[in-house]
Amino acid sequence: MSFSIPYEIAATRPLRQTTREEREMALERACFNTELLPQELIYVDLKTDSGVSSVSTSQLAASMGGASLEATPEMAPESHTAFNALARRFQEITGFPHVLPCTQGRAAERVWTKLHVKEGTVVAGNMLFPSTRFHVESNRAKVVDVIADKAYELFSDEPFKGNIDIGKLESAVKEHGADKVSCIYVELCVNSCGGHPVSLANLREVRAAANAHKIPLFLDACRILENSHLIQQREPGCQDRSIQEIVRETCSLADGCTMSALKDFLVPLGGFIGMRDEKLYQKAYFQQFLEGGQPPSGALASLSASLDEIFSPSNYVRSRVEQVTYLWQKLSGSVPVLHPAGGHGVFLDARSFLPGLAPEKHPAEALAAFIYAISGVRVTKGPPLTQHQTARGIELLRLAVPARRYLNGHLDDVAEAVLYAHLHRDEIRGFKRLDKPGRSKYDPPLFAPIT
Ligand code: F0G
Repeated sequence: MSFSIPYEIAATRPLRQTTREEREMALERACFNTELLPQELIYVDLKTDSGVSSVSTSQLAASMGGASLEATPEMAPESHTAFNALARRFQEITGFPHVLPCTQGRAAERVWTKLHVKEGTVVAGNMLFPSTRFHVESNRAKVVDVIADKAYELFSDEPFKGNIDIGKLESAVKEHGADKVSCIYVELCVNSCGGHPVSLANLREVRAAANAHKIPLFLDACRILENSHLIQQREPGCQDRSIQEIVRETCSLADGCTMSALKDFLVPLGGFIGMRDEKLYQKAYFQQFLEGGQPPSGALASLSASLDEIFSPSNYVRSRVEQVTYLWQKLSGSVPVLHPAGGHGVFLDARSFLPGLAPEKHPAEALAAFIYAISGVRVTKGPPLTQHQTARGIELLRLAVPARRYLNGHLDDVAEAVLYAHLHRDEIRGFKRLDKPGRSKYDPPLFAPIT
């Protein structure tokens, strides 16, 4: 017998059952972009796994308890109860001796890249998330993508498609000169290519290259738990290691990490910078204090409670990733989903789903709107793709599964909607993009159906 799911549901939120007519009206009002749909008209929301997991009773209690009345630490973290409790727990889990709690991942990246990324240099990375790329570029440096080519193969079963190609990394160092490489930044469970993990073996090789060239190695570790679970499942010799051991070894290979806590750590607000050097910690602390990015005490306390819970049942992470795999298995074989199953979501290849729709007819958005119209399920494209993906004609739709929020019954309904959409794909005509004065290129695009 097994204990499959290490929690029960303590509070629920009703979901309104909408009619097809209501949903079609909502789509029209949202100019057919599912990102712009109002939450109350959505049944299962797979737009993101970030900041939308259910909180636990102990997180709620912690965030409303005595600690929540402490002022933010300002320049005196030594005396701050919630800050210290969280820092201790983070140090135990990751082994990083210094930690700076942040409000979210991009806030951590802003501080960290300001301290590490120098003008006129490059950062070698594995298909980094757009906010990481943005912060590198805002320090007048460039990102060089050194992810292995397997990351662009949508349907092969290679287990670690997030890996760095050491040959590409060495070439980048040779081309730019080691002193012009500010750092190597490795994202775990790479979001943009399908939630694919990075292996420990690969991280060890990257560490050796970083040592040889004296370049710091940082992690974007926001999905470190999912990455560790997939290492445990897929990497030879890791089956008997605990998630905690794998997390520790992963962190031990890096000089520092930035991390959003909104994904694996189940909070709506929080993040970390983990680092080894005390002087750097003080600089980072001061930088964050000046920028006004300290998280409030209740958020620190809720995050501490979450860190405790994630590791106390040994199977939490397994139950989370297995739920994603459950959805993947329902779709794989019938519709074009990226292989193998990723850590936080299922990704559809929109081009092969709708081979008759040319890219300028926005197949991914048209498919997302169709799925919403028939089912109330919201999916979106996920993170903007890198230029290497776009150059290869890749177009994805991401079904991001929030942790601890939905039951498998919800995911059955999602699978039914996607399978129905596939059977009726000839009805999906595609969209044309609307231009509206005053909207910037960063605003979500607006569409109209092609009639
Ligand atoms: N790194 C990765 C790999 C991410 O996926 C995200 C956010 C961030 C950094 C930034 O963290 O949102 O806390 O500032 N990803 C979300 C998503 C938005 O939907 O995938 P943040």
